[in-house]
Amino acid sequence: TFHAIVPAGGAGTRLWPLSRRSAPKFLADLTGSGKSMLQATVDRLAPITDDVTIVTGAAHADAVAALVPGASLVVEPSARGTMGAIGLAAAIVEARDPEAVVGSFAADHLIADEEAFRRAVLRAAEAAEQGYVVTIGISPDRPSTAYGYIEAGESFGPACSVARFVEKPDEATAAEYLATGRYLWNAGMFVAKAGVLMDALARFHPELAEPLRALAATWEAGREDGVAEYWEPLESAVIDTAVAEPLAEEGGVAVVPVEMGWSDVGDYASLADVVESNEQVAPRGSEQTVLAPPDALVYTGHKPVVVVGIPEAVVVDMDDVLFVTTRASSQDVKLTVEALGRSG
Ligand code: GDD
Ligand code: MG
Repeated sequence: TFHAIVPAGGAGTRLWPLSRRSAPKFLADLTGSGKSMLQATVDRLAPITDDVTIVTGAAHADAVAALVPGASLVVEPSARGTMGAIGLAAAIVEARDPEAVVGSFAADHLIADEEAFRRAVLRAAEAAEQGYVVTIGISPDRPSTAYGYIEAGESFGPACSVARFVEKPDEATAAEYLATGRYLWNAGMFVAKAGVLMDALARFHPELAEPLRALAATWEAGREDGVAEYWEPLESAVIDTAVAEPLAEEGGVAVVPVEMGWSDVGDYASLADVVESNEQVAPRGSEQTVLAPPDALVYTGHKPVVVVGIPEAVVVDMDDVLFVTTRASSQDVKLTVEALGRSG
């Protein structure tokens, strides 16, 4: 069986105020599709597994349970990064069956070609059966600094070996990678046997693996304690640097390259790319008059919006704030919002 793990955390600050700590991106429907990104994530997995565990914080547990009643929920006591969230869910699966294959999938990505996605995941699961930690790779079309890069090696059966894994390089480095044609974007998905993933973590970071396994064991035994002893002291970590990078150096990581119309819609520039042309109004509950050039991105639920003479304008009208920027400034949103102390 194949166990899907969906970590749902973070604030998505670069999409503030559409996404914020109290109402993060995965709970939102940014493209007007009719469902939240989290629901879409679970629905797209449904044809290949009915075993989905969502890992989220207490603040969003009720909202998540209401949105996706069919999924199991692991409520993390506090945020410890993707390694904490995915590691805890993987350790719980491992405690039951270390040979079981788990796959982790971000809760807030868009994928246009769902069939291609599922085929790639099943191939990744095949490679995982052979003992690899397997990731999904996307052909880059620009030197993005928002993604991890994977240097692909030889292809074998279902996947390619990974020569190297580099988390979020600077732009000059990313441009060099692009020029070689050998690099893929890491789509932030990891497929592996639960025991393989946890053993790798135990070798590189025993200080993370031991408490995660200990907490999973206490929870599996039906005890609710262990949080103060095992979780609270845990360092925050990301799975890419904690496991994927060092394991790739040993030849333990594989990648399945796939074209699937993937976007992590992490900022307004990539959101504008995926919202259909001339559909500048992603509706927020009520229909409002929007008069704006076709390259504008406008979210409004409350009042008419008129934009004149601002190239690639982004306007977000929320209950408590009116936010205006341009696509070209989309990387600056995070710093500004953090400086304002307004990511909540
Ligand atoms: N439960 C929980 N707790 N979930 C978390 C936490 C946490 O503390 N931190 C992040 N997540 C969830 C996010 O909601 C998202 O679904 C997923 O984990 C990935 O986290 P991000 O914070 O969005 O990671 P990233 O975008 O910086 O980088 C990762 O994804 C890129 C692709 O989108 C890396 O894997 C990159 O290498 C990759 O290119
Ligand atoms: Mg992300």
